[in-house]
Amino acid sequence: MRRMKTRMHEYERKFLEALSKYGKEKFEKVSEDAGLNPGAANYALAMLEEKGLIKIDSRQKEEVSLAEEGKEYLEKGLPERRVLDSIQGKEENIKNLMKKIPGNEFRIASIWLVRQGLAKIRSGKITLTEKGEEYKSKPTGQEKVLKLLSEGKRIPEELQRDYELLKGRGKIIEVKKAVERTVEITKEGKAALAEKPAEEEIAQLTGSMIVTGSWKGKQFKKYDINAPSPPEYGGRIHPTVRVMRQVRSIFTEMGFHEMKGPWVESAFWCFDSMFVPQDHPAREVQDTFYLDGKAKLPEPELVDRVKKVHENGYDTGSKGYGYEWDPELAMKRVLRTHTTATTFRYFGKGIEKPAKYFSIDRVFRNETVDKTHLAEFHQIEGFVLGDVDFRDLVGYLKTFYKKMGIEKIRLKPYYNPYTEPSTEIFAKHPKLGWIELGNSGQFRPESLAPYGITENVVAWGLGLERLVMLTYNKHNIRDVLGPTCDLQWIRAYSIGREE
Ligand code: PHE
Repeated sequence: MRRMKTRMHEYERKFLEALSKYGKEKFEKVSEDAGLNPGAANYALAMLEEKGLIKIDSRQKEEVSLAEEGKEYLEKGLPERRVLDSIQGKEENIKNLMKKIPGNEFRIASIWLVRQGLAKIRSGKITLTEKGEEYKSKPTGQEKVLKLLSEGKRIPEELQRDYELLKGRGKIIEVKKAVERTVEITKEGKAALAEKPAEEEIAQLTGSMIVTGSWKGKQFKKYDINAPSPPEYGGRIHPTVRVMRQVRSIFTEMGFHEMKGPWVESAFWCFDSMFVPQDHPAREVQDTFYLDGKAKLPEPELVDRVKKVHENGYDTGSKGYGYEWDPELAMKRVLRTHTTATTFRYFGKGIEKPAKYFSIDRVFRNETVDKTHLAEFHQIEGFVLGDVDFRDLVGYLKTFYKKMGIEKIRLKPYYNPYTEPSTEIFAKHPKLGWIELGNSGQFRPESLAPYGITENVVAWGLGLERLVMLTYNKHNIRDVLGPTCDLQWIRAYSIGREE
């Protein structure tokens, strides 16, 4: 029977060929010779071993090098050497020596001189032994070790004791544990290499092959569908986008139109247009991201009415805030903190009444990120203008959440400069308990007067990511959106077609 040809990936063949020159060699050396990067070489290693074409011998190895102090001593000499060199003749007064060599180094030096039998210390004097005199002109065992290590050489058997002693001296030597892998080509490996590689097979058909016709008569490489390969993930629809689409279809089914507005807003549209006082805390840099430059204000008549409503209530019967409205503050550029800015742009450009509008769009707040807060998230904004009141608002909110599968919501009185009454909306998260989903209310006359709106308007701004957390039972908003978002979850939940 004919032996099956051994299939080898290009990396495997390269590795095996490089190894065959040695028979047995360190993994790193073979990888380098084969011109393979660590990833490719490790792949080849695993595959070749599995096929029995190589044997791997892994060994725990100590990698020894000089630490900071070791390098310093290599240059300056070990402390005992410096003392040895400073002793003129056979004997020296310790006091004199300490003038040349700092106290702590002298102490180290004397310990080692005595331990190695090179000197004796008696009555304030250091005296060299015979051995000490001999070593004045030749290196000690530890010095030899230091030098060998600095050259990356092996420590011979007879210096092992000195090596251990030097290692015990603190920060001179650094020992790292590493795994050393030696690979050896097997009989089967040699046989596989000796096989004539199958007729040159074309793995990739290129443009030039087609142009020159060089592909003609050639064999094409077969796919090996059993070959291991890294997982490939196709594109997925982010669960947040799914929820967004669901929200969009709920509102459009209820007869709402979608509105769109810019991320970069003027403070005018973000705040002034809706009666947010110019000294409101939300305008502070802690909450709002300000941008350089100046925004344009809309037509002067509208700006004037907004100014008046802030200063004295305009025609609403309200007294306003009683300050002088500053157009400069309104011209500041911001990343919008809420999509209510878009609602007021729509009021500003004039809409057909009655009206029902919604938007699902991005907002920015200078917040500390935690499990329920992001600095960049999405709001589901909406308003109904016409014959509506607060009870309708509650109805819209309940209906919307019910359609999203959330049966129970709780409302809590709230304050907004532009709505009265206002209410916060909560729903129960299985892990986090009652979480805030957003807030809502009925626009105050002061916020509507500049646009000539005399009808009632109820409105809301709801967090999209929090809704995603409820829908998918996620308890950390950072898993939902942003740089730490949970890819496993996105892959698991978002297979399949768009609905
Ligand atoms: N703009 C409010 C917020 O971002 C939400 C809201 C919108 C409240 C419309 C009332 C009316 O918190």
